[in-house]
Amino acid sequence: MFKFNLFILGVLLSLIWTRSLAAAGDASATPAVTAVPAASAPGAIAAPASSAGQAKPQVCVVAADATAGQTKSQVCAACHGATGISSVPIWPSIAGQPEKYIIREMTEFRKGDKGTRFDPTMFGMTQNLTDQDIADLAAYFARQKPAEGVTPAAAVELGQKIYRGGNPDTGVPACQACHGPAGKGNALANFPPLSGQQAVYVADQLKKFANNTRSNDPNGMMRDISKRLTEAEIQAVSSYVSGLH
Ligand code: HEC
Ligand code: HEC
Repeated sequence: MFKFNLFILGVLLSLIWTRSLAAAGDASATPAVTAVPAASAPGAIAAPASSAGQAKPQVCVVAADATAGQTKSQVCAACHGATGISSVPIWPSIAGQPEKYIIREMTEFRKGDKGTRFDPTMFGMTQNLTDQDIADLAAYFARQKPAEGVTPAAAVELGQKIYRGGNPDTGVPACQACHGPAGKGNALANFPPLSGQQAVYVADQLKKFANNTRSNDPNGMMRDISKRLTEAEIQAVSSYVSGLH
């Protein structure tokens, strides 16, 4: 977004600056200002650098390889856990999510603020991944055993009411219609599982849908639903799904 554009602008300016110095034949007077700032900026100078053989070619995905995915997943473990089970409330568990869903989300993250799911952390994590890397990572995490959480007793009544029956007064549909009675989602329809998910993360995503920060839901279905939920309903249903399995 704004900060990111400034970053790109800064890189471009430093490129122009170093080039105009070189063009002016002033190199001997300024030996220290070789293209170091530009070279250390990932992504932004991919096009000029490609002749140096640095660019990763976007070969088409031959077959997803879960073993290769496991090797590539080491960098993900710090936040999502080695087998995709997060122990930090703001970071989602991704173990057992459908491959297609993981690929879809990561591809959107990789687009940065031009995609429908902008997140600075995941943008950084995905911007240098090829389609093959993403497919391998998805194959690995999809094969891991999903997380199982617990629902605090206080959240059961309202959480269950919303999850099973929605709120007819405000037009909220039952979550289980799409996410399934046990919260396992529906891989074919691309409805993600919610069972065992970190409650704080779930509430966070409902708010991101509600304020349109996340807009990758087909036909705006999650944006529409989230806007109709009260804060109390968001908290209750989020805690409810984390213990649902
Ligand atoms: C520094 C912490 C961090 C690291 C490392 C990290 N992630 Fe994430 N990941 C996040 C956060 C934060 C989110 C939630 C972003 C949001 O709010 O939309 C996320 C979301 C995701 C999602 C979407 C989950 C969902 O339920 O929709 C997937 C898939 C994912 N990450 C995969 C990966 C993979 C694969 C790697 C390694 C290449 C990785 N992440 C590395 C922090 C991290
Ligand atoms: C009409 C179908 C439908 C209904 C009903 C529905 N959802 Fe969703 N939900 C979706 C779809 C589709 C997505 C995935 C969007 C995407 O591809 O990223 C989603 C995504 C989510 C996510 C993000 C999951 C993640 O891992 O990031 C949460 C949280 C969520 N829904 C909660 C709910 C709750 C709570 C309810 C009930 C109040 C509900 N949904 C009702 C279709 C539905």
